[in-house]
Amino acid sequence: MKALLCKKFGPPESLVLEQVESVALDARDVRVAVHAAGLNFADTLMIAGQYQVKPGMPFSPGMEMAGVVTEVGSGVTRVRKGDRVMSTCVYGGFAEERCISEDMVFPIPDEVSFTIAAAFPITYGTTYHALTDRAALKPGEWLLVHAASSGVGLNAVELGKLMGAKVIACSSTDEKLQIIKGYGADEVINYTQENIRDRVLAVTAGRGADVIFDPVGGDVFDESLRCIAWEGRLLVVGFAAGRIQQIPANHVLLKECQIVGVNTAQFIKHKLEEYRSRFTMMLRWTAEGRLRPLISATYPLDQVPQAMAVVMARSVTGKIVIAIR
Ligand SMILES: NC(=O)c1ccc[n+]([C@@H]2O[C@H](COP(=O)([O-])OP(=O)(O)OC[C@H]3O[C@@H](n4cnc5c(N)ncnc54)[C@H](OP(=O)(O)O)[C@@H]3O)[C@@H](O)[C@H]2O)c1
Repeated sequence: MKALLCKKFGPPESLVLEQVESVALDARDVRVAVHAAGLNFADTLMIAGQYQVKPGMPFSPGMEMAGVVTEVGSGVTRVRKGDRVMSTCVYGGFAEERCISEDMVFPIPDEVSFTIAAAFPITYGTTYHALTDRAALKPGEWLLVHAASSGVGLNAVELGKLMGAKVIACSSTDEKLQIIKGYGADEVINYTQENIRDRVLAVTAGRGADVIFDPVGGDVFDESLRCIAWEGRLLVVGFAAGRIQQIPANHVLLKECQIVGVNTAQFIKHKLEEYRSRFTMMLRWTAEGRLRPLISATYPLDQVPQAMAVVMARSVTGKIVIAIR
């Protein structure tokens, strides 16, 4: 089978497409013929050696994928050959085959394409976890979303609206803000041109944002602490800006707010069945048109480096999918 390989940590251009041997199946594993794989910001960190997971060399990047089960191990009970499935596989998605535990594959309804399913688990799984388990977002609350056209950000706008929140969305260009408005944001802020604190306080009549979804970090996090509401929850989702911020504890005291970490890997480790059941629900919402995953581009397997360059240039909206079959 063909696989895109990272042989040593480096930039996207150092990835190579090679023919590799198929691996043997463990008893609880299934073999998936990968049809499509979602590209995430974290893939660019993993190949550079800057992500918390550092696989042994060589490895294929690709944190999520969708395809058809072609073989099941002797101890597999919940999946059958021929099933259409998607998976949060952490790495190995940018290859024609991926062997993975049956617990980590989730059924895809017929109405949902492989392309949509491949781009689903990481960002929708993280965002739902963040807004419910970590922030306990309530109807009528103000939700401020940073990088709101990103993979996780656009999902936060959509899910926030479905949960009954009033959404303020921030992004760096007016073109991105147009897309976000189409997903129901109540207010938008171009945070390269406008002051986040001033606009949020104006929009919320001085209250501030009850929940802040922050995949950006750095200066954006610092500004967020200046416009969070009393008893607000600030979700630390990622550090796309590149600077891991320090927390001034005096702001936490003054606002009686919470700084809340979001780590989907931990949620999967501790509450796998809950994580699985959410996909049944959210894929049904997708089939019904209540969720509208945005796939802004697809690339073939041999053009993953070009696709990663788009992500690193801050140019992606929604998700990019790698088409493998
Ligand atoms: N905690 C978790 O479990 C978890 C799960 C999934 C993702 N994440 C994290 O969430 C973040 C976003 O992931 P994603 O896959 O949704 O990303 P993405 O689609 O590639 O979007 C990243 C966005 O961040 C903003 N940004 C601000 N400064 C940037 C910079 N210097 N370079 C690049 N982008 C910059 C950009 O939006 P604007 O141009 O609008 O500012 C960009 O569109 C990443 O840090 C990722 O690691 C965390």
